[in-house]
This record gives sequence, structure tokens and C-alpha cells, in this order.
Amino acid sequence: MYVPERVVPNDSFVTMGLDTTEEWISSRTGIERRRVVEADEATSDMATKAAVQAMAVAGLHAGDIDLVIVATCTPDHVMPATASIVQDRLGMLNAGAMDLNAACSGFVYALATGAAQVESGRAKNVLVIGADELSIYLNWQDRSTCVLFGDGAGAVVLRQARAPGIMDSTTGSDGSGAGLLTIKGASRRRASNNGAPGGSANGSEEAPNGEAPITEDGYLTMNGPQIFRWATQIMPRAAEEVMAASGLKTEDISLFIPHQANDRIMKASAKRLGLPPEKVFSNVREYGNTSAASIPIALCEALNTGRVDVGDHVVLSSFGAGLTWAALALRWSVPIPSHVAPWQPIQRQVASRMAAVRSVLRRGERSVRTRIDKTLGKNED
Ligand code: ACO
Repeated sequence: MYVPERVVPNDSFVTMGLDTTEEWISSRTGIERRRVVEADEATSDMATKAAVQAMAVAGLHAGDIDLVIVATCTPDHVMPATASIVQDRLGMLNAGAMDLNAACSGFVYALATGAAQVESGRAKNVLVIGADELSIYLNWQDRSTCVLFGDGAGAVVLRQARAPGIMDSTTGSDGSGAGLLTIKGASRRRASNNGAPGGSANGSEEAPNGEAPITEDGYLTMNGPQIFRWATQIMPRAAEEVMAASGLKTEDISLFIPHQANDRIMKASAKRLGLPPEKVFSNVREYGNTSAASIPIALCEALNTGRVDVGDHVVLSSFGAGLTWAALALRWSVPIPSHVAPWQPIQRQVASRMAAVRSVLRRGERSVRTRIDKTLGKNED
């Protein structure tokens, strides 16, 4: 996992003049602080840092990875995919790369997608990353949204094994709720006309569910109470579905890792599942809602703090914009990483320098070819 260094505690919002209190934020959400990226820190930077650690723990080299999936709704660019940037930085020469956007449910969606690749034999090693920096889309004057989110990344490597670790998964979507949580982005550009010949520029295009006209701002907007009600239903329901499909009863579950959005949503979900508080993992207090990064960060901290042991059954469940949801039941079947060998940081540094050099050489080769083509007049043919 990786989280940015900058810590923003709740009282920062009060200090900056927002009409809120430390008490309101912590009692209504469970959040006490969150991490926020610096201006020059992109989703790919966080994703790369988390990926490097996941590969070190798995003891894999860049060349072993067949596919990289970055679950994110805040990619560096519309294109290329953030996954391609990570693939290049780490020198994963044999890997395909793609982004997956299912908002906060993205990581569990990506796990299910990656697991299917491994199970079908199409891939041996899949790197699955959840990374988001929603902070860059927050309106820092909107107290109902800006206090909720933080930035970060988490990553895992899925590998072939004798017994399946991932037992079952489910993914779902209800696009009729698309307008409840949005960042308009590209649709905002469309509304203001993209300049193509014959286009209209009326700017009155409606949001996907027809609820509100698209405005000029690119901020995150959310109907908190409606999402809240729906989340307390869908998260336990999705968890129940994968538990039933895996033949797991409540008492078989060692740890439930829900999407870290709001402590009250997590508690309501656990209550419905009949799980005691000690079987529910929560770190929302530290990081807020880190979107697609929330579950992998929680999983990483659960492992690091001894909350997961070999043979344990763990259930992940998430919800997010879309609306989307996803859950997954797994049996932890690989040794818990207790320490990183002393030479691994050096090995990592060498590998990442080599990847950077390779990338520069490839760019150089491409630009030389372009110049040769120009000189030979190929483009005019
Ligand atoms: N400080 C003080 N008051 C506030 C704040 C704040 N930061 N934010 C809202 N309020 C006010 C509201 O304006 C409202 O005032 P009013 O009664 O005068 O109108 C009052 O508090 C109650 O507001 P509610 O929205 O009803 O408060 P609620 O208890 O529902 O909590 C919250 C709001 C925390 C946003 C909750 O609805 C929630 O967590 N919803 C789910 C959001 C979520 O999980 N989103 C992420 C989805 S995942 C993804 O894909 C990114």
C-alpha cells in the first residue's frame, strides 16, 4: 500500500473556515484524518509505489507479470491508461495493461477480473492495483463531500495455486442511480461543445439519469443520504451472496473488510451479517474514503497487524458510483509476509532504474525513427 505524506486532520476544515466541526465529521463518518496528494503526485505515482511493494512481497520480477489492472476513477489521463504508465515504469515487458473504472467498487471488480484470467489459464501472474486521488476533484467549499475522501493506493499479485484462494465473487450495477455520485469530466466538455464541425454548444445536456443539467464544474457531486441508505443494504447483500456461493456461514468468517466509506455504513452492514465488531476491519479513521484504494489498503493493514492468518476466510464487499457493487470471498492461502529481506529495497531500486533507462531508450528510438521517416519523406507517401 501507499498513502501520500500530507495528513489533513478534521480540524483543518474548521481552520480553513468551512462551516463544520471536528465532532460532526468524526461522529457522522468515523473519519479523523485523511492523506492528500501534492500537486505533482498522480494516480500512477501512487499505483507504482504500491505495485513495487506487492511484487516484492510476492517475490516476483517485472517480467513475470502477464497483466496489470489499475482500478481507478481518477486516471492520470483519459488516455493512455494509467496501467500502461505503471507497466512502463516497472518495466513489465510481458504484461498487458488496462484501467478498470467501477469507482469505489473498482478494486473488487478488478480482483474478480484478474482471478478469472488466472483460473482460465490465460495469465499466470496478474497485478491488481486500486488507486485513486479524489482530492483533485473535491470542492473544498462543499462540506458535505470534501471531508469524506482521501488519496492512496493498494496492490496485490494474483498467482496460480493448487487450491483456489478466491472462492467466489459477485459484481453488480444499477445505472439508474448514476446521477447520485458523479464527476462530470468528459461529459462536461461535450456539453460545452468539443469544437467539431456541425456540433451544438447549448451546454444543456442532462446527467445520465436526467436529474440535473450538466454544469461547468468538474467537481465530485453526491447525494449522501441516498447513497448511505442504499449502501447499508447492498454491501451486506453482496457479502451474503458470495458467502452462500462459497458455502461459508457467518461463524466461518475470520474477517470482513468492507469498503471504507463511513463507519456507520460498516457497522450497519456488519450487524446485518451478524458479525461482531472484532471481525470487521476499519481504518476509515486514518484515511477517509480512498475509493478504489480503500479495500487493498485495508487488506494490507489487516495482514500487517496480524488480523489475517493462513487458512482464514475473508470477505470483501464494496459499493460505489455507478451505482456499482462487488463482493468476494477468499481463503488466505499464502504465507503472511513477516519481513522484507534487507537486499530487497536495493533490488527494487536497481529494477526501477533499469525500467526507467529502458523506457528512455525506447522513446529515443521512436523519435529517431520519426526523424528518419520525415527525412525520407515517408509521411507524404
Ligand atoms: N459538517 C457539518 N454539517 C454537515 C456536514 C459537515 N461536514 N456535511 C453535511 N452537513 C449537514 C447537512 O447540510 C445537513 O444539514 P441540514 O439538516 O441543515 O440540511 C445535516 O448535516 C445532515 O446532513 P445529512 O446529509 O442528512 O447527514 P448524514 O447523517 O446523512 O451524513 C454523510 C452525511 C456522512 C455524507 C452520509 O450521508 C454518508 O456517509 N453517505 C454515504 C456517502 C458515501 O459513502 N459516498 C461514497 C460512495 S463510494 C464512491 O464511489 C466514491
